[in-house]
Amino acid sequence: MSSSEQLIASGQKLLINNYGRAPIVMSRGAGCLLWDSDGNRYLDMTAGIAVCILGHGHPGLAAAIAAQAGRLHHTSNLYYIEAQILLAEALAKRAFAGKIFFCNSGAEANEAALKLARRYQAVVRGKPNRVEFISFESSFHGRTMGALSVTGQAKYRQGFGPLLPEVRFIPFGDAEAARGAISERTCAVIAEPIQAEGGINLPPPGYLQELRRLCSERGALLILDEVQTGVGRTGTFYAFEKEAMVPDIVTLAKGLAGGVPMGAMLASLEVERAFEPGTHASTFGGNPLASAAALYIQQAIDEMDLLGHCQEIGAHLGSALARLAERRRPKTRGTRGRGLLQGLVLDGDATPVVKKARDRGLLLSVAGGQVVRFAPPLVVSRDAIDEAVAILDTVLAEG
Ligand SMILES: Cc1ncc(COP(=O)(O)O)c(C=O)c1O
Repeated sequence: MSSSEQLIASGQKLLINNYGRAPIVMSRGAGCLLWDSDGNRYLDMTAGIAVCILGHGHPGLAAAIAAQAGRLHHTSNLYYIEAQILLAEALAKRAFAGKIFFCNSGAEANEAALKLARRYQAVVRGKPNRVEFISFESSFHGRTMGALSVTGQAKYRQGFGPLLPEVRFIPFGDAEAARGAISERTCAVIAEPIQAEGGINLPPPGYLQELRRLCSERGALLILDEVQTGVGRTGTFYAFEKEAMVPDIVTLAKGLAGGVPMGAMLASLEVERAFEPGTHASTFGGNPLASAAALYIQQAIDEMDLLGHCQEIGAHLGSALARLAERRRPKTRGTRGRGLLQGLVLDGDATPVVKKARDRGLLLSVAGGQVVRFAPPLVVSRDAIDEAVAILDTVLAEG
């Protein structure tokens, strides 16, 4: 086995330099803990960027993956796949009724959503001029060309043009701007229910309902990107469940298979008709391995009451962070979030704070530049939260 220095040196030589990686090689995990290859322990409040909802090394998930791998791990979508259908049945019991397309990532799910929306307007409704996408400043939808085109942060788009034309960005949470923008040219509005990467930005109460109303009134589709907020992260399976509205299309990924790559696009029965055989596809989409993992996750959410746990521990985290924010003013500006997607807003760049926390064995991530993001496994305990907040407090106290 190579030493971590050797591995990092080799990685720097061979891997394209598109990530700002910490000089750590993670080697194993259990629950909310990770150990690097030098044996250092880390308390993980990132869960692989809101992915590992059952934590690391979960024996039940590992067994489900191993059992499926030993039986049949890939066949393609030329045939029906048992685990994929069982998963679809489980998802159909959640708060969105419709049909499902499975893929491998959040960006890919959003690509499918954008394509489905365009084809629905052009082919089903016979409105080929309805091509415009409306998205939001500070949004994040992924790195493929289509998803990037509707991502409302210039730093991610820079140098990649020309991107999709006919995309308009409006301020998130501003109902007046939405009323002015959605028109007879709008194909779809794409929004995160809570902007995650952009800084954990919650819209004002009633805003998503107003977007829904405007889209229905004006013939545009509403796509909700629940790639980060979905699968229980905010205390309900979908974040939109809190808002008394339902989108036309919803996208999922991250927590869906607990860390096995998987994305999904769900569309209403009215809209899904726009895809017919041959119009869209993905070789690995919903393959037996990912589907078996995601099916296990669906069962675990119910059997472990993960939604109730997320609400309870999320409230605990929210109030612990609020107290911390009070204590460490003026370095902090407050907190925001829902469930186990919570942020501590700093008075400056969050990157040095996240780095110092990592040096003390606490893994956090940055959202929107000035926000320290907590997105731990949904199985996280109160004790783990208290330990994490205490480490962050020490880091902030040090300056
Ligand atoms: C809301 C949202 N949409 C899309 C994506 C892209 O997902 P992926 O990295 O799986 O392509 C992300 C990733 O952070 C996200 O947070």
